[in-house]
Amino acid sequence: MFLFGEHAVVYGKPGIALAIRPRVYVTVRKTSHAHHAKSPYIDQCFKELNVKGSVYINSQLPSSSGLGSSAAVTVATMAAINDEFGLGKTRDQIAEQAYKIEKRVQKGRASPTDTTVSTYGGMFLIKEGTRKRLAPQNYHLVVGNSQVTHSTARMVEKVADLKGKYPTICEPVMDAIEAITLDAMKHLDEPQYLGRLMDMNHALLDVLGVGHPQLSKLVLAARATGAYGAKITGAGGGGCMVALAPKNLKARIAGALEVTDGRALITCLDTEGLRKEKDA
Ligand code: MEV
Repeated sequence: MFLFGEHAVVYGKPGIALAIRPRVYVTVRKTSHAHHAKSPYIDQCFKELNVKGSVYINSQLPSSSGLGSSAAVTVATMAAINDEFGLGKTRDQIAEQAYKIEKRVQKGRASPTDTTVSTYGGMFLIKEGTRKRLAPQNYHLVVGNSQVTHSTARMVEKVADLKGKYPTICEPVMDAIEAITLDAMKHLDEPQYLGRLMDMNHALLDVLGVGHPQLSKLVLAARATGAYGAKITGAGGGGCMVALAPKNLKARIAGALEVTDGRALITCLDTEGLRKEKDA
């Protein structure tokens, strides 16, 4: 999940993202018949590795919400196939191939951010194919799902159109988002300071046209209930927002999001990333 820098990463700017709970579980078993998955990401995993199997997914992360759940499912499916068929792929290869699949399904528009954090766990600074692991922090996060459907590909295209039409305005906005991310890097253990930066980043995402009235309401509700800061996370236009919360207020903030017609999820950093569970 993005903490800072979504959309700007598409234009070579840095972004900060982290893996969150709950984990996604995927089981794959060899079968002689081609499986029929509901997700194009899963279909592409089997195609990419040229095997046939059945797949069982247990995920409590809402899909298509901007939390990077498609990346988590893709990474976990690649790893489960790797394991079941003894393909001997490394974590790095799995991360790389999962990104390739995301990119293919999203028609060329994807950054390796969500596949990176899903594979390795923890928090990263991502910039143009490079990643820097950041010291894990004990953030209290409250995610609000607006339940408004959106498409990452469409939102990325919308920003590209706006940038094409108003380059002298949008380019400084991208620079300002970059400045926020770089400033955040110096204050990762100061939630109050980060909260202000999240509020600023949110305003700039609004400028880029990826806001939504329901997301604004959730962001305002979180702030009014005492969040350090709140912003859209992911592509916007619907999907999710995230609030950084004082520990003692997270339940109250979650309640405020629920009464604002959002689905709330209290979460935190997952430091572990990809992991093989015991065989069932
Ligand atoms: C979507 O979750 C985040 C974007 O920056 C696109 C991407 O990084 O692939 C909008």
